[in-house]
Amino acid sequence: MPVGKRFKIACIGAGNVGATVAQYCLDMQLGDVVLFDIVDGLPQGKALDLTQAGPVRGYSCVATGTNDYRDIAGSNICVVTAGLPRKPGMSRDDLVEKNGTIVAEICENILRYAPESVVIFVTNPLDVMAYLALKKLGYPPRKVVGMAGTLDSARLRSFVAGELGVSMKNVDTMVLGSHGDEMVPLPAYTTVSGVPVTQLLPEDKIEAIVERTRKGGGEIVALLKTGSAYYAPAASVARMVQCILNDERQILPCSAFLTGQYGLKDVFVGVPVRLGEGGVEEIIELDLTSAQMEALHNSAAAVREGIQSLKNLGLL
Ligand code: APR
Repeated sequence: MPVGKRFKIACIGAGNVGATVAQYCLDMQLGDVVLFDIVDGLPQGKALDLTQAGPVRGYSCVATGTNDYRDIAGSNICVVTAGLPRKPGMSRDDLVEKNGTIVAEICENILRYAPESVVIFVTNPLDVMAYLALKKLGYPPRKVVGMAGTLDSARLRSFVAGELGVSMKNVDTMVLGSHGDEMVPLPAYTTVSGVPVTQLLPEDKIEAIVERTRKGGGEIVALLKTGSAYYAPAASVARMVQCILNDERQILPCSAFLTGQYGLKDVFVGVPVRLGEGGVEEIIELDLTSAQMEALHNSAAAVREGIQSLKNLGLL
């Protein structure tokens, strides 16, 4: 916590994910939250409501809502969730044009008002949006990070725990790749209290869990019908915010800009990163099998297609 003042977290986009990030960050007492949105009244109303939950939940951090970018000034972290969520039948890449335009505008304002902040991307397709942001912001790569693997890992952990009837806290895992149908869950790095899941579940069960994880976002979109998941995504973001603000240096799977790691460069893709005060402090290179490496490269190729769309649309 900075001496004499609290951390400041800007949530750009006060929709389902943004407001829930704000809720978790306040509840975890990570700092004061500024909710920004283009819709008049929406961030103000949600901020007031969230602040009024404070006395009951026992937090003293406050939320403020705004439609004026000047209010994000001094933020330590900007969480970008503004944009359109996926609708049933829509792929994340269908969102490139609409959300790319929004992200470009947001970056101008982050540069103007909160250039010191670390930026966490949630807006989909997030690996592509994080790339666009890095280029627009001109930041060092460590300051722009995407939330993907933490959520995908959480889904895998919950499925494994459910299958085995153990606490989710006992399950550790790593999910790499792009946040989409090309994600790369790693059963070999999935353990239950240190025991590899491959010793606890038959191969077909593991394969079914991996497949469900891969389609985890789509499963929720199909059920909700009018939007996409937001509780687990927001919880994952709040955990990343906590790691960065408290300089925890925990290794979490996140979307990061690669500069040759895993044989990939000039692309964002989900990899294990050491997350601390400066953002992405280190990219950890795991020993992957050739099949996993190929899957990671396929993931990167899918992200590159999105980046090419940005170029074709003149957004880059
Ligand atoms: N600037 C700021 N906010 C904007 C802008 C903009 N230019 N355009 C849209 N918004 C706001 C909307 O007004 C809305 O409140 O972004 C918010 C998006 O919220 P939801 O529609 O509830 O979407 P949500 O479920 O929060 O998802 C946000 O996260 O997981 C991803 O795919 C998802 O890209 C989507 C994002």
